[in-house]
Amino acid sequence: KLGIAITGSGSAIPETAVDNQALTQLVETSDEWIATRTGIRQRRLAMATESLSTLAATASSQAIAAAGIQATDLDLILLATSTPDDLFGTACRIQAELGATKAVAFDLTAACSGFVFGLVTAAQYIRTGVYQNVLLIGADILSRWVDWTDRRTCVLFGDGAGAVVLQANDRDRLLGFALRSDGTQNHYLNLAYTASSQDLIPDVNVAKGNYQPITMNGKEVYRFAAQKVPEIIDKVLFQANLSVDQIDWLLLHQANQRILDAVAQRLNIPEHKVISNLANYGNTSAASIPLALDEAVRQGKIKPNDIIATSGFGAGLTWGAAIFQW
Ligand code: ACO
Repeated sequence: KLGIAITGSGSAIPETAVDNQALTQLVETSDEWIATRTGIRQRRLAMATESLSTLAATASSQAIAAAGIQATDLDLILLATSTPDDLFGTACRIQAELGATKAVAFDLTAACSGFVFGLVTAAQYIRTGVYQNVLLIGADILSRWVDWTDRRTCVLFGDGAGAVVLQANDRDRLLGFALRSDGTQNHYLNLAYTASSQDLIPDVNVAKGNYQPITMNGKEVYRFAAQKVPEIIDKVLFQANLSVDQIDWLLLHQANQRILDAVAQRLNIPEHKVISNLANYGNTSAASIPLALDEAVRQGKIKPNDIIATSGFGAGLTWGAAIFQW
């Protein structure tokens, strides 16, 4: 069995919902500005007592149960995140919480493209016959890294986790994929380590700096996404020998409703096929695709054999698309 099937999904969100109105206490903004520019009405924010690994483990347990396997069956755990509990890696904490004793566990970072990059990475282990049962998690707590005085970014993001189980299958349900990176545009979106001369440790000349809050050039990121995402989905459709009409669901990284609309319009995909949960969760980075996928599955929208075109895009800059059959 060298084909791939996604056999279960799960998701978890922090308890606390914060609506646009609440953000007007922090920065000069309005519900009207945020909703019309982004489609976001509220987001879930992780409180100090919540952690990425706990959210991820909850989502993972659901995905494992939906797949009908045990945590001890897992061969590999991949955690796509940019906001780990521990910079040395957080996947091992999740492995321990789940009791997935046999699984190799490590983190993968590709910002908002993390889930799609992780999906393709997981698929390679299955296609080569190395592993049969893989847990892929997309999880982020960007609220801990946002500048809460910067209205251009703080209104956009929310926290969450989503997970899927991928298993070796007779029939390959991953119909095509493509991944891209362009580091020359890296400066448009960063959560970067910086150090100044005051951070120098004398004698050893080492800089003990810190990570600075998220900075973003919104217009450039919008332009990039609206152009590159339709292009790469088109490419994967061609590779998979599918026509755009055969797509049942367009499941994009939930960055902004206007990006979702622009991509759907360019590809000529009708609105009723576009999955969107931005209004409730904002942009949850690596979590957004598996979170929206799990919701759509549990709502009975996505049905067996449906064809899903997914695309992640974001910092790096990175972007990627995958088409799979549920
Ligand atoms: N409330 C009120 N006014 C605001 C806010 C806010 N929250 N944010 C910005 N403004 C103001 C700006 O200060 C500016 O005012 P000025 O002209 O007086 O300086 C004005 O609104 C227009 O600002 P722009 O940045 O030009 O606004 P734009 O129309 O481009 O919309 C937005 C901003 C929504 C961020 C848009 O650029 C966008 O959607 N970009 C894509 C960003 C994105 O999706 N990033 C995440 C993808 S990657 C990832 O997921 C990590």
